[in-house]
Amino acid sequence: MSRIVINGDRRLYGSVAVHGSKNAVLPVMAASLMNQGITVIRNCPDIADVRAMQKILEFLECKVQFKNDCMIIDTVNAQSKELKEELTKPFRGSSILIGPMLVRFGSVKLAQPGGCNIGSRPLDIHLNSLKRLGASWRMTQDYIEVEGVHLTVNDVILRFPSVGATENTVMAAAMLNGTTTISNAAKEPEIVSLCEYLQKAGAVITGAGTECITVTGRGRLHSAEIIADADRIVAGTYMAAVTACGGSVFLENCKIGDCRSFLDVITGMGAKVTVKDNAIFVEMDHRPENLNYIQTGPYPEFSTDMQSIILSVAAKAEGVLKLKEQIFENRFKTAPWLEKMGADIKIEKDFAVVKGRECLNGCEVTGEDLRGTAALVVAGLSAQGTTIVHNADYIKRGYMNLCENFRRLGADIQWEDN
Ligand code: EPZ
Repeated sequence: MSRIVINGDRRLYGSVAVHGSKNAVLPVMAASLMNQGITVIRNCPDIADVRAMQKILEFLECKVQFKNDCMIIDTVNAQSKELKEELTKPFRGSSILIGPMLVRFGSVKLAQPGGCNIGSRPLDIHLNSLKRLGASWRMTQDYIEVEGVHLTVNDVILRFPSVGATENTVMAAAMLNGTTTISNAAKEPEIVSLCEYLQKAGAVITGAGTECITVTGRGRLHSAEIIADADRIVAGTYMAAVTACGGSVFLENCKIGDCRSFLDVITGMGAKVTVKDNAIFVEMDHRPENLNYIQTGPYPEFSTDMQSIILSVAAKAEGVLKLKEQIFENRFKTAPWLEKMGADIKIEKDFAVVKGRECLNGCEVTGEDLRGTAALVVAGLSAQGTTIVHNADYIKRGYMNLCENFRRLGADIQWEDN
């Protein structure tokens, strides 16, 4: 495993171009299987999860070219195959192949998807939604099998607005003849961009970004092209770093709307945020102040992905933050490492109480998941002395050139391959 070495306590100045969104690109790559044609994804980030999805598509005999942020996927000759553990374990995104493979091949068998250990992450909502469309499924400890040759449209009500379940249901519905209504759907920007792609491929979709999505399919999809939006969590990571370290940074290519709930939090903590054309300008010239209370929730509420990262900022902010995690039960695994750096954090079940300290002290810490590792990088950037972040390979799953970008902003940070 690689590590990141940071000599912290430096302000950040300059600009960063935020790369395309991992969680927007992965479902479009999965959906490409359905059109038996060509899918072009521009602004596609070259990160490990995208490469893992590419590997699966190539295993299914799709042709994939990936050069200069542009991915071209040809699924004309795709073939049905069982997806073994070595393909599905590296990332959770493999679960969103269930819908597309089901409608393309009539059945799908895959090993249990892996990904970050941030909670139990069941797939019941995905599978029961596909059951509403006529599929049947079986699950063992190791495998998931779904079958459905004669799928039909239906009304689907999700018991929780799961992002992945909404994606699987929207994708399967886009290939059916007729209209499917999905209630209590997830509203994330990544759902909106998936629906944009499916519309370009021939489906008629209304309500994307609301809790009720209506998908009218014609039994087939065709070739389509999409430009991925900037990654709102990556943008949030840079904004959190500026809030913790001080300085002023332009984030290029960002949609302000997608970052709204996070912006509310960092402006509440004292950062100044202005929007110029397609860029967000973040300035911070004093120690951050803690908000009294934040809770995570489905979009547009405060994102669970930003929760670990904001914990790092709160650890050195003035005052006390009470933070409630409502999405994933294991999302506080970074807290003990922050405590090792001098933070005062008490965790009780889904609650964290953070009493901000004047400063954090660099030391050796270990990444436990993707966003938690990014949180430790943010903590290290703002801490005094040297921080060594072990298990840094998590970063490669979701961030391109993170260390290079922070170095260009004035940080002293190095990636070291072990
Ligand atoms: C997506 O995961 C993202 N991943 C996650 O980002 C993100 O944290 C999450 O949405 C929430 O915003 C991708 O888009 C690839 P969910 P997903 O289904 O789809 C429960 C990152 O770091 N649930 O909305 O897996 C589940 O346990 C990653 O980029 C069920 O109970 O999230 C959780 O408590 C990490 N049954 C809640 O719903 C199900 O069938 C939300 O999960 C499905 C989910």
